[in-house]
Amino acid sequence: MLREINKLLTVRDFLLILYTMIIEAPIYKEIYGPLRIYEVQKVIKLDTETESVVNNFLFNVPREKIQNLLKDLAIVVPLKDELLITLDGVLKAIPHKCPIIVVSNSKIEAPNNFRQEVDLIKHFATLTNSQVILIHQKDNGLAKAFDKTGYHAILDKDGYIRNGKGEGMVVGLMLAKMLGAKYVGFVDADNYVPGAVNEYVKDYAAGFVMSESPYTMVRLHWRHKPKIIKKKIYFRKWGRVSEVTNKILNLLLGYLTRFETNIIATGNAGEHAFSMELAEYMEFSTGYSIEPYELVYLLEKFTNENGNEKSKDIYDHGIDILQIETLNPHFHEEKGQEHILDMLLSSMSVIYNSSVATEELRTIIQEELKTHGVNLEEVELKKPHVLPPVSTIDFNLWKDTLLSNAETLLVFERN
Ligand code: GDD
Repeated sequence: MLREINKLLTVRDFLLILYTMIIEAPIYKEIYGPLRIYEVQKVIKLDTETESVVNNFLFNVPREKIQNLLKDLAIVVPLKDELLITLDGVLKAIPHKCPIIVVSNSKIEAPNNFRQEVDLIKHFATLTNSQVILIHQKDNGLAKAFDKTGYHAILDKDGYIRNGKGEGMVVGLMLAKMLGAKYVGFVDADNYVPGAVNEYVKDYAAGFVMSESPYTMVRLHWRHKPKIIKKKIYFRKWGRVSEVTNKILNLLLGYLTRFETNIIATGNAGEHAFSMELAEYMEFSTGYSIEPYELVYLLEKFTNENGNEKSKDIYDHGIDILQIETLNPHFHEEKGQEHILDMLLSSMSVIYNSSVATEELRTIIQEELKTHGVNLEEVELKKPHVLPPVSTIDFNLWKDTLLSNAETLLVFERN
């Protein structure tokens, strides 16, 4: 019998080694305090056999390890008035083992988009036997849970959860904690290509498998972001906002380390994921400034850190920030020029107002904005509104308040 088991184990181990995802190995990195920011790692092959590729510069991530990790990776989908067909594609593309959390801020007044989303999600969850949680951002019970636990920064003056993608993400993070997830990843609802979403989630998992620390963030860099230019698809490498944000973040990092760098390529990475241990430690800013602020916050934190117990643990393990370049291009709903400008301003404001930004960097930011047509006499680079780490929330009180007061919370369990 024992021999039989051994035999089985050998076959299983064999399979584990054989089928992998190949990613460029994390070789070059910038180090700042406990932060290890890795250079972009390209996905070389989504599914292969290790035997055929052996190379020290490549990392073979066993497919079984990815599959095992997925059940602990909750995927949060922030949603506001998107096309139902793109939402449907996104939900269907998320690997089955991942719990899905949809935080919607869609219209409830006529037209009641939220009602349609509820129908779609109900149908999806029962049809596919998926684990899904859905809530509306303006749910009274949700606001009450944050109010009761003293987390007022997320509330607006009327006592509701503020509008914004960032706020939706923090709600999603709390719900992921409620599910006991060890990792949380974010996927936008406006992605036209379901296959890309499926890859993003597996890339997150591969990042966590590669990381050597319980404190990990995986940020995706899209291989291309196609645009229609003169009736033809043009595969742009960089988004307009990302190009500027990355440049300024790299300057900031270079000033701090005193070594110029171009390592940051994911300043505005909407598609990104955290280990829960790092997510709970993070401060988040609101709206679209959330992604650049994550990096700025960590840089500030470890410039000014005065050494409490948690940070001792963080220094012992380090924080891994992995940037993975996807195989799929990113094709999503375009929201227009004003939206782009909005995003640029929120990203720049975060860095401009950072306690670790130098005057020289602030001048560069102003110049950069001018070249993008921003009139600085009309626009104020406001300090971002910041949400404290969710570890400050009394979790049991939050959960009990939510569960007894929520009006829109829907939970679909697997059979
Ligand atoms: N819950 C919630 N609440 N979700 C929201 C809200 C809100 O108030 N506002 C927007 N969303 C959802 C959208 O429905 C979409 O799923 C996602 O957040 C991204 O919002 P978009 O407005 O579509 O942003 P984008 O696609 O232009 O920009 C994306 O890429 C940028 C990098 O290029 C976002 O991910 C940005 O955060 C990112 O910086």
